[in-house]
Amino acid sequence: MQMGGGSRETWGSKVGFILAAAGSAIGLGNIWRFPYVLGESGGFAFLMIYIACVILIGMPIMGAEMVIGRGSGRNPVGAFRVLLPGSPWWLAGAIGVITGVLILAYYTVVAGWTLAYLYESITGLVNTFNTPEAAQHAFDDFVVNSGKVVFFHFLFALLCILVVSQGVKGGIERWSKVLMPTLFLLLLLLIGRSLTLPGAGEGMKFLFEPDFSKISGEVVLVAMGQAFYSLSLGMGVMITYGSYLDKKSDLFGSTATVATLDMSIAILAGIAIFPAVFAMGLEPASGAGLTYVALPLVFSKLPFGAVLSSIFFLLLTIAALTSAISLLEVMVSFATDELKWVRSRATIIMAALAFLLGVPVALSFGVWSDVKVFGLNFFDLYDYLTANILLPLGGILIALFAGWAWRKGVKEEMLQGTKMGRLYGVWIWAIRIFAPLAVGIILVTNLIG
Ligand code: PFF
Repeated sequence: MQMGGGSRETWGSKVGFILAAAGSAIGLGNIWRFPYVLGESGGFAFLMIYIACVILIGMPIMGAEMVIGRGSGRNPVGAFRVLLPGSPWWLAGAIGVITGVLILAYYTVVAGWTLAYLYESITGLVNTFNTPEAAQHAFDDFVVNSGKVVFFHFLFALLCILVVSQGVKGGIERWSKVLMPTLFLLLLLLIGRSLTLPGAGEGMKFLFEPDFSKISGEVVLVAMGQAFYSLSLGMGVMITYGSYLDKKSDLFGSTATVATLDMSIAILAGIAIFPAVFAMGLEPASGAGLTYVALPLVFSKLPFGAVLSSIFFLLLTIAALTSAISLLEVMVSFATDELKWVRSRATIIMAALAFLLGVPVALSFGVWSDVKVFGLNFFDLYDYLTANILLPLGGILIALFAGWAWRKGVKEEMLQGTKMGRLYGVWIWAIRIFAPLAVGIILVTNLIG
Protein backbone atom coordinates (compact mmCIF):
# COMPACT_ATOMS: atom_id res chain seq x y z
CA MET A 1 0.00 0.00 0.00
CA GLN A 2 1.16 3.49 -0.70
CA MET A 3 -0.63 6.43 0.78
CA GLY A 4 0.36 10.02 1.05
CA GLY A 5 4.08 10.03 0.65
CA GLY A 6 6.25 7.99 -1.74
CA SER A 7 7.33 4.44 -1.06
CA ARG A 8 6.27 3.97 2.51
CA GLU A 9 7.06 0.75 4.34
CA THR A 10 4.20 -1.33 5.75
CA TRP A 11 4.05 -3.94 8.50
CA GLY A 12 4.78 -7.49 7.38
CA SER A 13 1.80 -9.00 9.22
CA LYS A 14 -1.16 -8.23 11.45
CA VAL A 15 0.48 -9.90 14.43
CA GLY A 16 3.63 -7.92 13.75
CA PHE A 17 1.73 -4.65 14.00
CA ILE A 18 -0.15 -5.70 17.15
CA LEU A 19 3.07 -6.79 18.85
CA ALA A 20 4.86 -3.60 17.87
CA ALA A 21 1.96 -1.42 19.09
CA ALA A 22 1.64 -3.47 22.28
CA GLY A 23 5.42 -3.27 22.57
CA SER A 24 5.16 0.50 22.51
CA ALA A 25 2.39 0.56 25.08
CA ILE A 26 3.93 -2.04 27.39
CA GLY A 27 7.06 -0.58 28.87
CA LEU A 28 8.60 1.00 31.91
CA GLY A 29 5.17 2.61 32.28
CA ASN A 30 3.62 -0.75 33.16
CA ILE A 31 6.34 -2.41 35.17
CA TRP A 32 8.16 0.49 36.82
CA ARG A 33 5.82 3.53 36.76
CA PHE A 34 2.42 1.88 37.29
CA PRO A 35 3.35 0.07 40.53
CA TYR A 36 5.06 3.05 42.12
CA VAL A 37 2.35 5.52 41.12
CA LEU A 38 -0.28 3.10 42.36
CA GLY A 39 1.68 2.67 45.59
CA GLU A 40 1.76 6.44 46.10
CA SER A 41 -1.90 6.87 45.19
CA GLY A 42 -3.38 4.35 47.55
CA GLY A 43 -3.77 1.05 45.71
CA PHE A 44 -7.17 -0.30 44.72
CA ALA A 45 -9.04 3.00 44.24
CA PHE A 46 -6.33 4.14 41.84
CA LEU A 47 -6.55 0.84 39.98
CA MET A 48 -10.30 1.24 39.41
CA ILE A 49 -10.02 4.83 38.17
CA TYR A 50 -7.11 3.82 35.98
CA ILE A 51 -9.12 1.02 34.33
CA ALA A 52 -12.03 3.41 33.75
CA CYS A 53 -9.67 5.94 32.12
CA VAL A 54 -8.22 3.27 29.81
CA ILE A 55 -11.62 2.07 28.64
CA LEU A 56 -13.55 5.34 28.45
CA ILE A 57 -10.82 7.75 27.34
CA GLY A 58 -7.76 5.79 26.23
CA MET A 59 -9.37 3.34 23.84
CA PRO A 60 -11.38 5.93 21.85
CA ILE A 61 -8.30 8.14 21.52
CA MET A 62 -6.13 5.22 20.43
CA GLY A 63 -8.69 4.52 17.68
CA ALA A 64 -8.52 8.18 16.68
CA GLU A 65 -4.73 8.05 16.42
CA MET A 66 -4.74 4.89 14.34
CA VAL A 67 -7.38 6.20 11.95
CA ILE A 68 -5.49 9.47 11.47
CA GLY A 69 -2.30 7.50 10.80
CA ARG A 70 -3.78 5.03 8.38
CA GLY A 71 -5.88 7.65 6.63
CA SER A 72 -2.89 9.87 5.98
CA GLY A 73 0.03 7.45 5.74
CA ARG A 74 2.23 10.02 7.43
CA ASN A 75 4.07 11.03 10.59
CA PRO A 76 2.08 13.11 13.14
CA VAL A 77 2.96 16.50 11.62
CA GLY A 78 2.44 15.38 8.02
CA ALA A 79 -0.76 13.50 8.91
CA PHE A 80 -2.66 16.64 9.89
CA ARG A 81 -1.24 18.44 6.85
CA VAL A 82 -2.38 15.73 4.44
CA LEU A 83 -5.84 15.37 5.93
CA LEU A 84 -6.58 19.08 6.33
CA PRO A 85 -4.19 21.05 4.13
CA GLY A 86 -3.64 24.70 4.94
CA SER A 87 -4.97 24.46 8.49
CA PRO A 88 -2.97 25.02 11.69
CA TRP A 89 -3.74 21.48 12.90
CA TRP A 90 -0.20 20.34 12.07
CA LEU A 91 0.78 22.15 15.27
CA ALA A 92 -0.95 19.37 17.22
CA GLY A 93 1.44 16.94 15.55
CA ALA A 94 4.38 19.20 16.31
CA ILE A 95 3.47 19.29 20.01
CA GLY A 96 3.39 15.50 19.83
CA VAL A 97 6.86 15.23 18.31
CA ILE A 98 8.29 17.59 20.96
CA THR A 99 6.55 15.65 23.74
CA GLY A 100 8.09 12.49 22.30
CA VAL A 101 11.59 13.93 22.47
CA LEU A 102 11.07 14.87 26.12
CA ILE A 103 9.68 11.47 27.06
CA LEU A 104 12.44 9.64 25.22
CA ALA A 105 15.01 11.84 26.98
CA TYR A 106 14.07 10.70 30.46
CA TYR A 107 12.90 7.28 29.37
CA THR A 108 16.41 6.36 28.24
CA VAL A 109 17.74 7.45 31.63
CA VAL A 110 15.46 5.07 33.53
CA ALA A 111 16.09 2.39 30.91
CA GLY A 112 19.78 3.00 31.58
CA TRP A 113 19.24 2.33 35.32
CA THR A 114 17.65 -0.91 34.22
CA LEU A 115 20.59 -1.88 32.06
CA ALA A 116 22.94 -1.11 34.94
CA TYR A 117 20.89 -3.29 37.29
CA LEU A 118 20.91 -6.04 34.67
CA TYR A 119 24.68 -5.85 34.57
CA GLU A 120 24.92 -5.90 38.36
CA SER A 121 22.54 -8.83 38.54
CA ILE A 122 24.66 -10.85 36.17
CA THR A 123 27.81 -10.07 38.14
CA GLY A 124 25.97 -11.04 41.35
CA LEU A 125 26.27 -7.65 43.04
CA VAL A 126 22.52 -7.18 43.42
CA ASN A 127 22.55 -10.27 45.64
CA THR A 128 24.37 -8.31 48.31
CA PHE A 129 21.46 -5.85 48.73
CA ASN A 130 20.02 -8.01 51.48
CA THR A 131 18.45 -5.60 53.98
CA PRO A 132 15.95 -2.83 53.18
CA GLU A 133 18.62 -0.30 54.15
CA ALA A 134 21.29 -1.92 51.98
CA ALA A 135 18.98 -2.09 48.96
CA GLN A 136 17.88 1.54 49.40
CA HIS A 137 21.47 2.61 49.90
CA ALA A 138 22.63 0.81 46.78
CA PHE A 139 19.94 2.55 44.72
CA ASP A 140 20.68 5.96 46.25
CA ASP A 141 24.41 5.47 45.68
CA PHE A 142 23.82 4.41 42.11
CA VAL A 143 21.59 7.30 41.02
CA VAL A 144 24.04 9.89 42.38
CA ASN A 145 26.88 8.29 40.43
CA SER A 146 26.45 10.56 37.41
CA GLY A 147 29.21 9.00 35.32
CA LYS A 148 27.72 5.55 35.59
CA VAL A 149 24.16 6.73 35.02
CA VAL A 150 25.14 8.69 31.90
CA PHE A 151 27.18 5.75 30.60
CA PHE A 152 24.22 3.36 30.76
CA HIS A 153 21.91 6.09 29.43
CA PHE A 154 24.23 6.31 26.42
CA LEU A 155 24.34 2.53 26.00
CA PHE A 156 20.58 2.32 25.90
CA ALA A 157 20.36 5.12 23.33
CA LEU A 158 22.71 3.04 21.15
CA LEU A 159 20.42 0.01 21.45
CA CYS A 160 17.49 2.12 20.22
CA ILE A 161 19.53 3.32 17.25
CA LEU A 162 20.44 -0.26 16.41
CA VAL A 163 16.79 -1.34 16.14
CA VAL A 164 15.23 1.74 14.55
CA SER A 165 17.91 2.14 11.90
CA GLN A 166 16.86 -1.30 10.58
CA GLY A 167 13.45 0.06 9.60
CA VAL A 168 9.84 -0.79 10.38
CA LYS A 169 9.57 -4.39 9.22
CA GLY A 170 13.20 -5.47 9.54
CA GLY A 171 13.82 -3.59 12.80
CA ILE A 172 10.83 -2.69 14.94
CA GLU A 173 8.54 -5.54 13.87
CA ARG A 174 11.22 -8.25 13.84
CA TRP A 175 12.46 -7.35 17.31
CA SER A 176 8.98 -6.94 18.81
CA LYS A 177 7.95 -10.41 17.65
CA VAL A 178 10.75 -11.99 19.65
CA LEU A 179 10.88 -9.64 22.61
CA MET A 180 7.19 -9.37 23.56
CA PRO A 181 6.47 -13.10 24.06
CA THR A 182 9.75 -13.38 26.00
CA LEU A 183 8.67 -10.55 28.27
CA PHE A 184 5.35 -12.23 28.98
CA LEU A 185 6.98 -15.54 29.95
CA LEU A 186 9.50 -13.86 32.22
CA LEU A 187 6.73 -11.95 33.98
CA LEU A 188 4.72 -15.10 34.65
CA LEU A 189 7.79 -16.71 36.14
CA LEU A 190 8.27 -13.81 38.54
CA ILE A 191 4.61 -13.78 39.56
CA GLY A 192 4.89 -17.45 40.48
CA ARG A 193 7.81 -16.62 42.74
CA SER A 194 6.34 -13.47 44.27
CA LEU A 195 2.97 -15.02 45.12
CA THR A 196 4.56 -17.90 46.99
CA LEU A 197 6.52 -15.64 49.34
CA PRO A 198 5.35 -15.68 52.96
CA GLY A 199 3.23 -12.57 53.58
CA ALA A 200 2.37 -12.11 49.90
CA GLY A 201 -1.35 -11.83 50.73
CA GLU A 202 -0.94 -8.29 52.10
CA GLY A 203 0.24 -7.13 48.69
CA MET A 204 -2.77 -8.67 46.99
CA LYS A 205 -5.02 -6.96 49.54
CA PHE A 206 -3.39 -3.61 48.82
CA LEU A 207 -4.07 -4.10 45.11
CA PHE A 208 -7.54 -5.57 45.20
CA GLU A 209 -9.29 -4.65 48.45
CA PRO A 210 -11.88 -1.91 47.85
CA ASP A 211 -11.10 1.36 49.65
CA PHE A 212 -12.56 4.43 48.02
CA SER A 213 -11.54 6.89 50.72
CA LYS A 214 -8.31 7.57 48.84
CA ILE A 215 -10.00 9.08 45.76
CA SER A 216 -9.23 12.76 45.13
CA GLY A 217 -8.95 15.10 42.14
CA GLU A 218 -5.21 14.58 42.15
CA VAL A 219 -5.60 10.78 42.07
CA VAL A 220 -7.93 11.08 39.07
CA LEU A 221 -5.40 13.27 37.20
CA VAL A 222 -2.57 10.91 37.97
CA ALA A 223 -4.62 7.89 36.85
CA MET A 224 -5.54 9.62 33.61
CA GLY A 225 -1.93 10.67 33.01
CA GLN A 226 -0.86 7.09 33.64
CA ALA A 227 -3.45 5.83 31.13
CA PHE A 228 -2.11 8.16 28.42
CA TYR A 229 1.46 7.31 29.28
CA SER A 230 0.95 3.59 29.43
CA LEU A 231 -1.04 3.38 26.21
CA SER A 232 1.52 5.62 24.41
CA LEU A 233 -1.22 8.12 23.61
CA GLY A 234 -1.38 11.82 22.95
CA MET A 235 1.83 12.30 21.00
CA GLY A 236 1.40 10.37 17.81
CA VAL A 237 3.02 6.96 18.33
CA MET A 238 -0.21 5.29 17.22
CA ILE A 239 -0.52 7.78 14.35
CA THR A 240 2.95 6.78 13.19
CA TYR A 241 2.45 3.03 13.68
CA GLY A 242 -1.01 3.33 12.07
CA SER A 243 0.57 4.99 9.06
CA TYR A 244 2.34 1.71 8.24
CA LEU A 245 -0.97 -0.23 8.27
CA ASP A 246 -2.85 -1.54 5.27
CA LYS A 247 -6.56 -1.08 4.65
CA LYS A 248 -7.42 -4.65 5.59
CA SER A 249 -6.51 -4.22 9.23
CA ASP A 250 -9.23 -3.76 11.80
CA LEU A 251 -8.75 -0.55 13.80
CA PHE A 252 -11.40 -1.30 16.44
CA GLY A 253 -10.04 -4.79 16.94
CA SER A 254 -6.43 -3.59 17.08
CA THR A 255 -7.28 -0.91 19.64
CA ALA A 256 -9.11 -3.37 21.87
CA THR A 257 -6.30 -5.91 21.67
CA VAL A 258 -3.49 -3.45 22.36
CA ALA A 259 -5.29 -1.73 25.26
CA THR A 260 -6.27 -5.06 26.85
CA LEU A 261 -2.73 -6.42 26.59
CA ASP A 262 -1.35 -3.23 28.09
CA MET A 263 -3.77 -3.15 31.00
CA SER A 264 -3.21 -6.84 31.71
CA ILE A 265 0.55 -6.45 31.84
CA ALA A 266 0.28 -3.49 34.25
CA ILE A 267 -1.94 -5.51 36.58
CA LEU A 268 0.35 -8.54 36.29
CA ALA A 269 3.32 -6.31 37.11
CA GLY A 270 1.43 -5.14 40.21
CA ILE A 271 0.88 -8.78 41.16
CA ALA A 272 4.59 -9.47 40.67
CA ILE A 273 5.70 -6.48 42.74
CA PHE A 274 3.32 -5.74 45.65
CA PRO A 275 3.34 -9.19 47.26
CA ALA A 276 7.14 -8.86 47.25
CA VAL A 277 7.03 -5.29 48.64
CA PHE A 278 4.81 -6.35 51.54
CA ALA A 279 6.61 -9.63 52.13
CA MET A 280 9.84 -7.65 52.61
CA GLY A 281 8.21 -5.07 54.88
CA LEU A 282 8.82 -2.20 52.49
CA GLU A 283 6.72 0.92 52.05
CA PRO A 284 4.47 0.75 48.94
CA ALA A 285 4.62 4.55 48.56
CA SER A 286 8.38 4.77 48.27
CA GLY A 287 8.37 6.38 44.82
CA ALA A 288 10.44 6.00 41.68
CA GLY A 289 12.94 3.67 43.33
CA LEU A 290 10.31 1.09 44.33
CA THR A 291 11.17 -1.45 41.65
CA TYR A 292 14.90 -0.98 42.01
CA VAL A 293 14.83 -1.38 45.79
CA ALA A 294 12.07 -3.89 46.52
CA LEU A 295 12.91 -6.47 43.95
CA PRO A 296 16.67 -6.75 44.44
CA LEU A 297 15.90 -7.23 48.13
CA VAL A 298 13.53 -10.08 47.32
CA PHE A 299 16.00 -11.64 44.93
CA SER A 300 18.83 -11.48 47.43
CA LYS A 301 16.79 -13.65 49.79
CA LEU A 302 15.91 -16.32 47.31
CA PRO A 303 17.74 -19.32 45.98
CA PHE A 304 19.03 -18.48 42.50
CA GLY A 305 18.46 -14.82 43.32
CA ALA A 306 21.06 -13.60 40.85
CA VAL A 307 19.36 -15.58 38.08
CA LEU A 308 15.91 -14.27 38.98
CA SER A 309 17.09 -10.72 39.19
CA SER A 310 18.88 -11.02 35.85
CA ILE A 311 15.62 -12.30 34.40
CA PHE A 312 13.66 -9.42 35.85
CA PHE A 313 15.98 -6.67 34.69
CA LEU A 314 16.24 -8.29 31.29
CA LEU A 315 12.45 -8.20 31.13
CA LEU A 316 12.41 -4.55 32.09
CA THR A 317 15.09 -3.72 29.52
CA ILE A 318 13.07 -5.47 26.81
CA ALA A 319 9.89 -3.64 27.79
CA ALA A 320 11.76 -0.33 27.75
CA LEU A 321 13.36 -1.02 24.41
CA THR A 322 10.14 -1.80 22.51
CA SER A 323 8.66 1.45 23.88
CA ALA A 324 11.68 3.67 23.36
CA ILE A 325 11.94 2.59 19.72
CA SER A 326 8.36 3.74 19.16
CA LEU A 327 9.17 7.16 20.56
CA LEU A 328 12.24 7.36 18.37
CA GLU A 329 10.26 6.18 15.35
CA VAL A 330 7.89 9.15 15.69
CA MET A 331 10.82 11.52 15.41
CA VAL A 332 12.45 9.50 12.66
CA SER A 333 9.27 9.32 10.58
CA PHE A 334 8.90 13.08 10.99
CA ALA A 335 12.46 13.64 9.79
CA THR A 336 12.23 11.21 6.86
CA ASP A 337 8.77 12.40 5.68
CA GLU A 338 9.04 16.12 6.29
CA LEU A 339 12.76 16.88 6.21
CA LYS A 340 13.55 14.16 3.65
CA TRP A 341 16.45 12.78 5.68
CA VAL A 342 17.52 9.20 5.10
CA ARG A 343 16.56 6.82 7.91
CA SER A 344 20.05 6.18 9.25
CA ARG A 345 20.83 9.87 9.56
CA ALA A 346 17.42 10.66 11.07
CA THR A 347 17.82 7.86 13.62
CA ILE A 348 21.24 8.93 14.80
CA ILE A 349 20.48 12.65 15.00
CA MET A 350 17.15 12.23 16.77
CA ALA A 351 18.53 9.71 19.25
CA ALA A 352 21.47 12.02 19.93
CA LEU A 353 19.06 14.90 20.58
CA ALA A 354 17.04 12.83 23.05
CA PHE A 355 20.24 11.61 24.69
CA LEU A 356 21.51 15.16 25.22
CA LEU A 357 18.19 16.38 26.60
CA GLY A 358 18.29 13.40 28.94
CA VAL A 359 21.63 14.35 30.47
CA PRO A 360 20.10 16.91 32.90
CA VAL A 361 17.67 14.18 33.95
CA ALA A 362 20.51 11.72 34.44
CA LEU A 363 22.25 14.28 36.65
CA SER A 364 19.11 15.32 38.53
CA PHE A 365 19.62 12.76 41.29
CA GLY A 366 23.33 13.52 41.55
CA VAL A 367 25.32 16.68 40.91
CA TRP A 368 22.25 18.61 39.73
CA SER A 369 19.89 17.51 42.48
CA ASP A 370 19.65 21.09 43.72
CA VAL A 371 18.66 22.50 40.34
CA LYS A 372 14.91 23.00 40.47
CA VAL A 373 12.43 24.33 37.91
CA PHE A 374 8.95 25.12 39.31
CA GLY A 375 10.14 23.38 42.45
CA LEU A 376 10.83 20.10 40.61
CA ASN A 377 14.12 18.48 39.68
CA PHE A 378 14.61 17.70 35.98
CA PHE A 379 13.40 14.14 36.36
CA ASP A 380 10.10 15.10 38.02
CA LEU A 381 9.73 18.08 35.70
CA TYR A 382 9.95 16.03 32.49
CA ASP A 383 7.70 13.34 33.94
CA TYR A 384 5.00 15.70 35.24
CA LEU A 385 5.03 17.93 32.19
CA THR A 386 4.72 15.07 29.71
CA ALA A 387 2.43 12.58 31.45
CA ASN A 388 0.13 14.97 33.27
CA ILE A 389 -0.03 17.90 30.86
CA LEU A 390 1.31 17.40 27.32
CA LEU A 391 -0.05 13.90 26.64
CA PRO A 392 -3.60 14.73 27.84
CA LEU A 393 -3.47 17.99 25.87
CA GLY A 394 -2.32 16.11 22.75
CA GLY A 395 -5.11 13.59 23.37
CA ILE A 396 -7.76 16.34 23.41
CA LEU A 397 -6.46 17.79 20.13
CA ILE A 398 -6.32 14.38 18.43
CA ALA A 399 -9.87 13.54 19.54
CA LEU A 400 -11.22 16.91 18.40
CA PHE A 401 -9.46 16.58 15.06
CA ALA A 402 -10.81 13.12 14.30
CA GLY A 403 -14.24 13.94 15.73
CA TRP A 404 -14.92 17.41 14.35
CA ALA A 405 -12.24 18.82 12.06
CA TRP A 406 -11.52 15.95 9.68
CA ARG A 407 -15.20 15.30 8.78
CA LYS A 408 -14.86 13.89 5.27
CA GLY A 409 -13.39 10.43 5.26
CA VAL A 410 -13.09 9.55 8.93
CA LYS A 411 -16.09 7.21 8.92
CA GLU A 412 -15.05 5.43 5.77
CA GLU A 413 -11.48 5.00 7.03
CA MET A 414 -12.55 3.76 10.45
CA LEU A 415 -14.94 1.18 8.97
CA GLN A 416 -12.48 -0.24 6.44
CA GLY A 417 -11.40 -3.74 7.39
CA THR A 418 -13.46 -3.99 10.59
CA LYS A 419 -16.21 -6.39 11.53
CA MET A 420 -17.12 -4.21 14.49
CA GLY A 421 -18.66 -1.35 12.52
CA ARG A 422 -21.53 -1.14 15.00
CA LEU A 423 -19.11 0.45 17.44
CA TYR A 424 -18.64 3.47 15.20
CA GLY A 425 -21.59 5.40 16.68
CA VAL A 426 -20.26 4.98 20.21
CA TRP A 427 -16.68 5.75 19.21
CA ILE A 428 -17.42 8.93 17.29
CA TRP A 429 -19.37 10.47 20.19
CA ALA A 430 -16.73 9.34 22.63
CA ILE A 431 -14.09 11.31 20.76
CA ARG A 432 -16.36 14.22 19.88
CA ILE A 433 -17.73 14.93 23.32
CA PHE A 434 -16.89 12.58 26.12
CA ALA A 435 -13.11 12.17 25.88
CA PRO A 436 -12.21 15.84 25.23
CA LEU A 437 -14.61 17.01 27.91
CA ALA A 438 -13.47 14.52 30.52
CA VAL A 439 -9.78 15.10 29.85
CA GLY A 440 -10.32 18.87 29.73
CA ILE A 441 -12.18 18.97 33.04
CA ILE A 442 -9.62 16.79 34.81
CA LEU A 443 -6.75 18.86 33.43
CA VAL A 444 -8.22 22.28 34.19
CA THR A 445 -9.50 21.50 37.67
CA ASN A 446 -6.11 20.17 38.64
CA LEU A 447 -4.06 22.90 37.07
CA ILE A 448 -6.00 25.76 38.60
CA GLY A 449 -6.70 23.91 41.86
N1 PFF B 1 3.89 3.45 26.88
C1 PFF B 1 5.24 3.44 27.32
C2 PFF B 1 5.32 2.78 28.66
O1 PFF B 1 4.27 2.47 29.25
O2 PFF B 1 6.40 2.58 29.15
C3 PFF B 1 5.87 4.79 27.39
C4 PFF B 1 5.51 5.70 26.28
C5 PFF B 1 5.85 5.36 24.99
C6 PFF B 1 4.78 6.84 26.52
C7 PFF B 1 5.43 6.16 23.95
C8 PFF B 1 4.36 7.65 25.51
C9 PFF B 1 4.69 7.29 24.24
F1 PFF B 1 4.28 8.04 23.27
